[in-house]
Amino acid sequence: MGVTILAIESSCDDTSAAVVRDGYVLSNLIAGQEVHRSYGGVVPELASRAHQANIVPVVDQALKRAGTDISEISALAFTRGPGLLGSLLVGASFAKGFALARNIPLIEVNHLQAHVLVHFIKRKEENRPAPGFPFLCLLVSGGHTGIMLLKSHLEMETLGSTIDDAAGEAFDKCGKLMGLPYPAGPEIDRLASQGNKNAFKFSKPSVPDLNFSFSGLKTSFLYFLRDRLKEDPDFIARNKADLCASLQAVIADILIEKLIAASKATGIREIGIAGGVSANSGLRNRAREAARERGWKLFIPDPGLTTDNAAMIGITGYYKYLGKEFAGQDIAPQARL
Ligand code: KG4
Ligand code: ZN
Repeated sequence: MGVTILAIESSCDDTSAAVVRDGYVLSNLIAGQEVHRSYGGVVPELASRAHQANIVPVVDQALKRAGTDISEISALAFTRGPGLLGSLLVGASFAKGFALARNIPLIEVNHLQAHVLVHFIKRKEENRPAPGFPFLCLLVSGGHTGIMLLKSHLEMETLGSTIDDAAGEAFDKCGKLMGLPYPAGPEIDRLASQGNKNAFKFSKPSVPDLNFSFSGLKTSFLYFLRDRLKEDPDFIARNKADLCASLQAVIADILIEKLIAASKATGIREIGIAGGVSANSGLRNRAREAARERGWKLFIPDPGLTTDNAAMIGITGYYKYLGKEFAGQDIAPQARL
């Protein structure tokens, strides 16, 4: 019959459920939450309420789309953290109840590890090779930025991480300064394609080791806009595409330079990018360029698997199932891991 995992992701503002069988994704449903848009960021209390309203219909749809009966589910995998506690609690409580009622194992998943493991999802339509180990992955999302080293599916080490803002936050906060709606990352990406990335120069931070910092970039972007707006009140409107292209280029440079440093330090050339920001076309192009120059075997996730989704929880759950890494009913979600 194989191993069929029902997976739940609810760490931030997307309620997602997926069915993963033997490493293949049968369904992956994501209910986003428009409610946060007018607030310019995720409102935790509203996120938990929306998860509560969405979780049963999303799971129901995921099972239907997969053509899977509830009796075929081998185990229930859910995001334990990191994330918003109230949001995590909705997913964890649903998962515990489901596993208890069906008398199946419960599997807790680290959200960051799951982002990295998207590269191991199998596909029926194409026989795409999975990364070999050790595997180095730049993880860039709205809440996290770091370089992860995978020794096996279940052994992950953080080689460096941000000391302040995440890369996605840099996109979102700078976008907000330009009057773009939350989350600004995708819109900056779209506008950047029409702009000149050499129009403006923003300095890169000097951070030791394989760590990152983005708060200085946000501040210098703020001061830059403030000064230019004094001379020309329409400066942003007149230069939006060039501002987006220049900002995107510097963020991609900061990220890829550290990834190159990590590859040099470890000698690893099986390289991937993952997380919401890995959808960014500037970052993808910069990664491809580095891969060509350095002979990397590069792994870039499909667009649907960059942002938060339950398929990544399902693939991680699948490997944990094979490793018999199960959780008890006393497991508690953790905002920080
Ligand atoms: O992984 P994710 O869905 O959620 C977290 O775990 O944080 O990442 C969301 C982040 C947001 O900051 C969003 O602006 C950013 O990913 N993002 C992008 C793009 N698509 C999403 N940033 C830049 N370019 C994009 N195309
Ligand atoms: Zn995420």
